[in-house]
Amino acid sequence: MAILKIARMGHPVLAGQAAPVTDPTAPEIKRLVSDMIETMKDADGAGLAAPQVHTPLRVVVFQAPGERADGNPSGEESFDHTVPLTVLINPVVEVLDETLEGGWEGCLSVPGLRGWVDRPRHIRYAGLDVMGNRIARSARGFHARVVQHECDHLDGVLYPSRMEDMSKLLFESEVHHWLEQRGTERGAAE
Ligand code: NI
Repeated sequence: MAILKIARMGHPVLAGQAAPVTDPTAPEIKRLVSDMIETMKDADGAGLAAPQVHTPLRVVVFQAPGERADGNPSGEESFDHTVPLTVLINPVVEVLDETLEGGWEGCLSVPGLRGWVDRPRHIRYAGLDVMGNRIARSARGFHARVVQHECDHLDGVLYPSRMEDMSKLLFESEVHHWLEQRGTERGAAE
């Protein structure tokens, strides 16, 4: 395993379309995923996409802390669940509820900054793990946000280009001035 160098905003590898993985079970994909997980943990991020470590392939890793899902006791989600460390290869995201929810985001490729980003609040996603098994889940809240943020990286999109109001692009140390804002207050370093 190795800690990989993280590309920063402006590097062309972050701006292109990442290619699909042809064999998710290939040894080089397992190695990439192990290194991505180690790199994400070392950088204290909630997620990481392969283009961020200079590998333009459709691979993301993420984890999300437990949080209370908003209602829906009969739905697919359980309450107050933690999203375990997840590897998604060739992910597909489908929006289930286009209602937008705002939250602060950060990105390991945009160090030191936070931005307020509106995203659809309920999604479904699917992909493969390193064993080639299919993963399919629905997600809300921070879980939905981190998956959308990471999958955006695969299409060359960084969160600032999702922002409606650039006055809410701030240094991390200034976010506390805004924490009365409704929505996800936790900084999401991805
Ligand atoms: Ni990011």
